[in-house]
Amino acid sequence: MSKVEQTLSIIKPDAVERNLIENIKSIFTKNNLVIKENKKIHITKEEAAEFYKVHQSKPFYDNLCLYLSSGPIVVMVLEGINAVSLNRELMGATDPKNAEENTIRKLYGISIDKNSVHGSDSIENAKKEINFFFKD
Ligand code: CMP
Repeated sequence: MSKVEQTLSIIKPDAVERNLIENIKSIFTKNNLVIKENKKIHITKEEAAEFYKVHQSKPFYDNLCLYLSSGPIVVMVLEGINAVSLNRELMGATDPKNAEENTIRKLYGISIDKNSVHGSDSIENAKKEINFFFKD
């Protein structure tokens, strides 16, 4: 079923550092996702730990939080038909090595950690993640 949804997207420090913000945004907009909210921020390790707390039991958690707080990021609300799954398709697999051709992570990702973008994995998490960065 096609339904207008919102999802959260983050352009991670590795992509901001390499001036890929506009390239990544244009992939979203060319694929019918509208950028409804957008801000460039630099979060603390504690904020990253809160954002990624679903991963707190994972061995990579500490590194992940250090990494997301290591430099500026861009957080966006994307809106469109089936935005959650469309954004995940456009991002490609978590590990750039396994990502399909022309996905954001295949084009720009460096490693499983420096994989350029984050996107919500479900409608429920999208609501939580949007609220985390864009409280009304
Ligand atoms: P992201 O979509 O932001 O969600 C959690 C992040 O953890 C993921 O992208 C990866 O960048 C990072 N990560 C590091 N190691 C792993 C791993 N082994 N499995 C999954 N995610 C990992």
